[in-house]
Amino acid sequence: MKTAVFSSKSYDKEFLDRFNSDHHHVLTYFETSLNPHTVGLTKEYDAVCVFVNDQLNREVIAALSKNQVRLIALRCTGFNNVDLEAAREYGLIVVRVPAYSPRAVAEHAVALILTLNRKTHKAYNRIRENNFSLERLTGFNMYEKTVGVIGTGQIGAAFSKIMLGFGCRVLAHDLKQTPDLIDLGVNYLPMDQLLGESDIIALHCPLRPETKHMIHEGSFAKMKKGVMLINTSRGGLINTLDAIEALKSKKLGYLGIDVYEQEEKLFFRDLSESIIRDDVFARLMTFPNVLITSHQGFFTSEALEQIASTTLNNLSDFEKGREMQHEISIPEEKK
Ligand code: NAI
Repeated sequence: MKTAVFSSKSYDKEFLDRFNSDHHHVLTYFETSLNPHTVGLTKEYDAVCVFVNDQLNREVIAALSKNQVRLIALRCTGFNNVDLEAAREYGLIVVRVPAYSPRAVAEHAVALILTLNRKTHKAYNRIRENNFSLERLTGFNMYEKTVGVIGTGQIGAAFSKIMLGFGCRVLAHDLKQTPDLIDLGVNYLPMDQLLGESDIIALHCPLRPETKHMIHEGSFAKMKKGVMLINTSRGGLINTLDAIEALKSKKLGYLGIDVYEQEEKLFFRDLSESIIRDDVFARLMTFPNVLITSHQGFFTSEALEQIASTTLNNLSDFEKGREMQHEISIPEEKK
């Protein structure tokens, strides 16, 4: 299938090309994201292959349809960037990679926690400057701390198990409970109780209209003073301006984020010679207790292999008229 691969990086090309030897699709790589300005590039393609920050809004989908593109293949799990209603109206099929490596994201959440806690990023820089002082590097034991997990799907479950391994007390909140986790000792609670009892809160639920800004001023008010908040899901789950106020008042003691509300203008690019125009992001960067990574939770070789093989299988299923195992249909919950 003739497929235009948007937002492509060297690693996308490397892994897709490696697995494509079994499929023989014609893949054209575009570094640019797919958006209203670049959708003109899709003429003569059967499919587009896109990632988390490509814009699949109604305008783009209408243009894809006009260009006779028939398939949107997401190289990710979340699909909050796709107007599914518009895709249905224009007759475009949308497929995704339902799970590539929940453990990769869960382990990255743990990396954020341990870095913020034990300040290894600061220690690394100090030692390189022959500064062997321990001043201001004090951390805390994870053992017996209370960790609140919001969303116990694939990633939240993997994360909960790691936290149990640390000897933490794990609280959870989800629309549905997972019996396996309850058997392991996870305690499901209403949201407000979880917010009030947790030393560390980790967000592992999808961004949907009902979860947008689920962590806001009122939520911070219910949290313990000095709480650590970790978000590896989607930036829109947190009201960033409210988080900044909570950091200023010291209510929020640590913030670790792999995702950011306006990340599409920043993440996945080298902007080291550019002026950052996002003042909210710039303010976040001034706090010594904020750690930001640029959406790299998924970024392990195991996950890249899984993304490439599932994406190419999705293209082949469509091309050969086989059942579309990973099609996203409207009634399915937005992730
Ligand atoms: P999943 O679908 O397995 O689990 C999501 C869970 O959230 C479900 O159990 C669902 O019931 C729950 N949930 C939905 N609405 C909720 C609400 N209002 N309150 C509490 N829980 C709610 O999804 P998975 O694979 O665990 O992924 C979670 C999120 O992680 C994805 O939606 C995606 O946004 C993000 N993600 C981030 C990556 C990264 O590289 N940083 C990579 C992959 C996913």
